[in-house]
Amino acid sequence: MTDVDLDAVVADGLAAVAAAPDLDALDTAVGGLFGRRGAVSAVQRSLGRLDEAARRERGRAVNDARARLQTAIAERRAVLEDQRDRVVLAAEAVDVTLPPRTPRRGSLHPITETVEALVDVFAGLGYTALSGPEAESEWFNFTALNLPRDHPARSEEDTIYLEPLTPGGPAWSTLLRTSTSPMQVRTMLATPPPLHVVVPGRVFRQDTPDATHTPVFHQIEGLSVDTDISMADLRGTLAAVARAVLGPATRIRLLPDHFPFTEPSCQVEAWDGTRWLELLGAGMVHPTVLEAGGYDPEAVGGFAFGIGIERVAMLRYGIDDLRLFSDNDLRFLAAF
Ligand code: PHE
Repeated sequence: MTDVDLDAVVADGLAAVAAAPDLDALDTAVGGLFGRRGAVSAVQRSLGRLDEAARRERGRAVNDARARLQTAIAERRAVLEDQRDRVVLAAEAVDVTLPPRTPRRGSLHPITETVEALVDVFAGLGYTALSGPEAESEWFNFTALNLPRDHPARSEEDTIYLEPLTPGGPAWSTLLRTSTSPMQVRTMLATPPPLHVVVPGRVFRQDTPDATHTPVFHQIEGLSVDTDISMADLRGTLAAVARAVLGPATRIRLLPDHFPFTEPSCQVEAWDGTRWLELLGAGMVHPTVLEAGGYDPEAVGGFAFGIGIERVAMLRYGIDDLRLFSDNDLRFLAAF
């Protein structure tokens, strides 16, 4: 079939290849020439209809045309591949003249910082730091601390009771601990006297948030049991700790209070320059509690205290609303 204009096929093909803006377009152009319905393929098919002499001559012309087109395609492909690689490299390029992005340094949360400061001071006084479970048994949280099931002080501290740990078990058996005090009996049961431990941790209460209360807060429990421990040791220890953590001029005062697990009991306040702020509850460990811990109240005695960490942090940093500690406002947190 001589009616197909081979020169036109080549000219159109070369133009399409040269104009292909990218590799996909080039592939489309190649398909238009050499694909099953391509222009070159059509010319090739038409050869069968020629007599032998004409076919040989036309065949040679077709082969030349193919060769020219393929050379053009290969050249264009090389150019387009190079272009694509440049784009990829440009995207991956690193501008070494840019100033470095220094990682933003965080800092310890003021509560964590205060816990570490307190633990550090107590360590200097010979105390070992422990931690205890936040999900606590009703026995350690209340009963062992001389708060039997019908004691009215239980409801003041009531908290969230958890699903029974054993299916069908009593519903009241596990709760979020209302103070770090359950660690008193846990520790006594695990360690013979003498004992000097502090236990920082998170505690949970039924409380409406205000400037000085939150339903979740932190305490550090202290327990010191030995022979010949008196209320004077308690006072001296707490005064030394207050001075170490809040400054050498810090004044504290002890006020009478009541806790079922200490006798006598007191509340300790610190002077913040304007007013007295309650920091902790404390007292001499009740004989019943020593017995629950397997200790002989005739042979040993001691004191215990539970410091409100948030209260210490408020004094330490001059913060007047403890809700700031849990708001997660970076403007506040970045100040530490
Ligand atoms: N557990 C008491 C509270 O949370 C504090 C306390 C601890 C009092 C140890 C006496 C002894 O208020």
